[in-house]
Amino acid sequence: MYFPVKSGGIINRTVGHVQAVDGVSFQVPEGSSLGLVGESGCGKSTTGRLITRLYDPTGGSIKFDGKEIANISQRQMLPMRRDIQMIFQDPATSLNPRHSVGAIISAPLKIHNVLPDNKIKARVEELLEIVGLNPEHYNRYPHEFSGGQRQRIGIARALTLQPKLLVADEPVSALDVSIQAQVINLLQDLQREFNIAFLFIAHDLAIVRHFCPEIAVMYLGKIVEIADRETLYGRPHHPYTQALLSAVPDVKQAQIGGRRERIRLKGDVPSPINPPSGCRFRTRCQFAQEICSRVEPPLLQIGPRHKVACHFAGELGAHPAEPIPQSANGGEGAPANQPGFEDHWLNLSTGQTASA
Ligand SMILES: Nc1ncnc2c1ncn2[C@@H]1O[C@H](COP(=O)(O)OP(=O)(O)O)[C@@H](O)[C@H]1O
Ligand code: SF4
Ligand SMILES: [Mg+2]
Repeated sequence: MYFPVKSGGIINRTVGHVQAVDGVSFQVPEGSSLGLVGESGCGKSTTGRLITRLYDPTGGSIKFDGKEIANISQRQMLPMRRDIQMIFQDPATSLNPRHSVGAIISAPLKIHNVLPDNKIKARVEELLEIVGLNPEHYNRYPHEFSGGQRQRIGIARALTLQPKLLVADEPVSALDVSIQAQVINLLQDLQREFNIAFLFIAHDLAIVRHFCPEIAVMYLGKIVEIADRETLYGRPHHPYTQALLSAVPDVKQAQIGGRRERIRLKGDVPSPINPPSGCRFRTRCQFAQEICSRVEPPLLQIGPRHKVACHFAGELGAHPAEPIPQSANGGEGAPANQPGFEDHWLNLSTGQTASA
């Protein structure tokens, strides 16, 4: 997804592009959840909005239930909207303050014409109960609720049409820490009960840990590492993931009196209008070498459920001196940018293809 940058003025020319999401590839399995994590501005919301087709992608492919939805018209998308819903970050701005809770939650039912009018109220009351709100508050307005309760209203609205996929864009970031766990638990219960797949977007690794069996880390519009939970938290390979993880409190370390060393990233996130050549992370990477500015590292599969985009993918904090040969990067056994995981991958210690 590239957004045009305009010059302004009378001749409003396109003078560049914001490369907001670039070559990102992943899969969300039915009824499961994928965490999408990265700093503000790395393209998480844009990714979520593409999947829900709030944006028209400039390129690429999005498949839902095997059906291509990247290029279909908004009209063709309409039946799909029942299956793919979104929960937004800020419940205060995503709910219309002039509409009652009943009107907000029943709107999707009316648009999609799925229930006769005389059944709608009962369904809304049922939904309010499911998300832990009082069904009698049907006629109240959003401002009469607390932040956590408002997010529950947003969740009820997203559930109205019984979606198969929920894109949750930082659903608890705007809430008090004490409320965050309650809302996460609610989402987890709903997922189990209704077998909903989640794309769970967050800006730090702590929040998705208990929710997502698989996590993708984004940096400046790209996925830099994607792995199952155990691998990502236990053996992260990308220097950016390692830095993000060093900010997450480690209960096990604390129990034995240890502390994970905090890695502080230098500098700011570069502009996605003119991202660094080669590896986009190189301007902030403590391991950057000459090759990093010349060659973009592909997302290389280095384990059964582990991919990383770094020329020097190696053990935690101890990078090999030599970059992984380009024949291995993108060569046989190293599928670049496939949405899922292949059954063979590059074994980093032998440099050979390994398989399950
Ligand atoms: N509608 C838009 N027009 C132009 N640029 C945008 C638009 N939406 C997002 N961007 C830019 O794309 C980049 C990614 O934004 P976003 O997806 O919101 O990141 P995140 O959710 O990770 O904070 C940012 O640089 C942002 O300024
Ligand atoms: S490719 Fe180079 S700059 Fe990028 S993360 Fe790896 S070592 Fe750092
Ligand atoms: Mg965002």
